Amino acid sequence: MKVGVPTEIKTDEYRVALTPAGVRELVDHGHDVLVQRGAGEGSAIQDSDYEAQGARIVPDAEAAVGEAEMVLGVKEPQPEEVAMLRPDHTLFTYLHLAPDPELTKRLVESGATCIAYETVEDTRGRLPLLAPMSEVAGKIATQAGAFMLEKPLGGRGVLLGGVPGVAAANVLVIGGGVVGFNAAAIAIGMEADVFTFDRNIDRLRELDIFFAGRASTVYASTLAIEQMLPMADLVIGAVLVHGAKAPYVITREQLGLMKPNAVLVDVSIDQGGCFETSRPTTHSDPTFEVDGITHYCVANMPGAVPITATYALTNATLPYVLALADMGVKEAIAKDPGLRPGVNVAGGRVTHAAVAEATGIDFTPLEDVQGVRS
Ligand SMILES: NC(=O)c1ccc[n+]([C@@H]2O[C@H](COP(=O)([O-])OP(=O)(O)OC[C@H]3O[C@@H](n4cnc5c(N)ncnc54)[C@H](O)[C@@H]3O)[C@@H](O)[C@H]2O)c1
Repeated sequence: MKVGVPTEIKTDEYRVALTPAGVRELVDHGHDVLVQRGAGEGSAIQDSDYEAQGARIVPDAEAAVGEAEMVLGVKEPQPEEVAMLRPDHTLFTYLHLAPDPELTKRLVESGATCIAYETVEDTRGRLPLLAPMSEVAGKIATQAGAFMLEKPLGGRGVLLGGVPGVAAANVLVIGGGVVGFNAAAIAIGMEADVFTFDRNIDRLRELDIFFAGRASTVYASTLAIEQMLPMADLVIGAVLVHGAKAPYVITREQLGLMKPNAVLVDVSIDQGGCFETSRPTTHSDPTFEVDGITHYCVANMPGAVPITATYALTNATLPYVLALADMGVKEAIAKDPGLRPGVNVAGGRVTHAAVAEATGIDFTPLEDVQGVRS
């Protein structure tokens, strides 16, 4: 199969969808890999590194996408990239379609088979291709929040860990999955007082064991969140309902309960945001203020640490990329049913129920769709 790797063009995005190690594996499996010139530069990977492992460097995105049968990406495709997609293409990338009906519609019109990293599941129903970026984003969330709490950046002017004789800051992490666990782990390491909220009691049990008394777990009822907001210095939002738009866990009215210049970090912004007042921001201009509360809502947080994130991403995606290239979509799904929920759009239809519900576009089960690439 011909596998194309175009350069990412989303603002402040420096990751690339494949490392030289990934090229090597695909080439060893008999596939042809086309990498757009300079695609790896942001992650410190040179064209010559790809060529040494058997990739062909092509001059532009038109060639990397146009000649390919499967296109690998990192972030959701931008309009000029969607315009290049054809019905015979398989697109494998993060899509985050639930909050974006316009992109969903355009992907439907392309006729391509669009598989979202973030809705592929493993045998335990977890999200193996979201996890590595959630690990990165969770760690960045606490770093970024700590920085934004500094006075010159508009924060309250508190140090997360405090000092002897002065209390540490209070960090609330709402959503205790992969992002939440990693955010809490860094906040614990910085010696903050940490409270992790979730609605899944089994998850709270696991977190309680991991934290071994160094952080508290709290059932995420509306009342519990309201009771703790007045003491929060930093709140990290990290909830997810698979494939769906994020639920709001803090409303605009509840901002009034918070201390002036406290900081909200909305990691769930890529699924529409879990604070009512959130809107997507970029690394170049990461924050805005609503009612005296700093909001940090960068939708591609791992893009800031591309060297770490690119390698973490390829480590996770490569087995799936190889399966899709070796077998095609239909057979790969038959062998690994966890790939099936990854298919969000195919043959001009939306094939993921939660995406269909969030975008208001009709849902069609994948098995009823004609033209899925085999
Ligand atoms: N902004 C970024 O750059 C970036 C990067 C990576 C991940 N993310 C996003 O971060 C979010 C979290 O990802 P994850 O991998 O940690 O997901 P996850 O599935 O591992 O964890 C989500 C947790 O949220 C909990 N939850 C769901 N609804 C809740 C509610 N109403 N109240 C409290 N908890 C609730 C779930 O029980 C689960 O434990 C996702 O939206 C993901 O797309 C964003």
